[in-house]
Amino acid sequence: MNRLRLTKILIFLAALIPLARLGWKALHGGLGANPIEVITHSTGDWTLILVLATLTITPLRRVTRQYWLIGVRRMIGLFAFFYGMLHFTTYIWLDKFFDLHEMFKDIAKRPFITVGFSAFVLLIPLALTSTTGWIRRLGGKNWQRLHRLIYMTGILGVIHYIWLVKADLRKPLEYAFVLSLLLLYRIVMWVVETRKHADVPARPRTSPEATEA
Ligand code: HEM
Repeated sequence: MNRLRLTKILIFLAALIPLARLGWKALHGGLGANPIEVITHSTGDWTLILVLATLTITPLRRVTRQYWLIGVRRMIGLFAFFYGMLHFTTYIWLDKFFDLHEMFKDIAKRPFITVGFSAFVLLIPLALTSTTGWIRRLGGKNWQRLHRLIYMTGILGVIHYIWLVKADLRKPLEYAFVLSLLLLYRIVMWVVETRKHADVPARPRTSPEATEA
């Protein structure tokens, strides 16, 4: 088995652990007095962690020269979307029982929910166009442009978290710090590459292995 396949299997299993833990706790009465809050917080945390993990792949593969790592990025991104779906579903189903009136009242009272919702909506086109077929259809450059929306998801996800926290800002600020490093890396690389290749025409890109975000 090659290392990409093995890494993919390990990531797949690791990404299911938070869900399995929640399931286990739910079955054994371990979710405490407010299970919906625990599920909302856990799925929100994991959505943000996986968005940041997706953004880590490009710098990691370049710094370590392990270029094959790009092959795991799509899977991590799709897991971010999956946990985002669970987070959203927990809110609209378990918390609000699909009661639109309740939701609008809540959104008016807690505007950070709109920010979280926007972060989630931006993940939808990314999940839908994550296949090689879509890269071909859109063209590498356009696909890459579209997938830069993940930067906004990260930024909005961190704002959502900072906004909702009432007292201890340490954890959201840690996420903000990691996100800032990941975005700074892109800005530096962009400046360096624009200077270096100012007059070299861009190569067509057609596969996820050849695309960066
Ligand atoms: C789909 C729309 C979303 C809704 C309706 C939503 C709603 C919520 C709510 C109600 C909470 C709990 C607030 C509280 O306890 O006072 C929460 C927490 C959180 N959400 Fe969201 N959210 C959404 C999308 C997102 C997205 C896309 C991300 C990440 C990119 C995210 C990350 C978080 C984080 C990190 C927390 C806090 C977890 C913790 O306390 O450990 N949310 N969200």
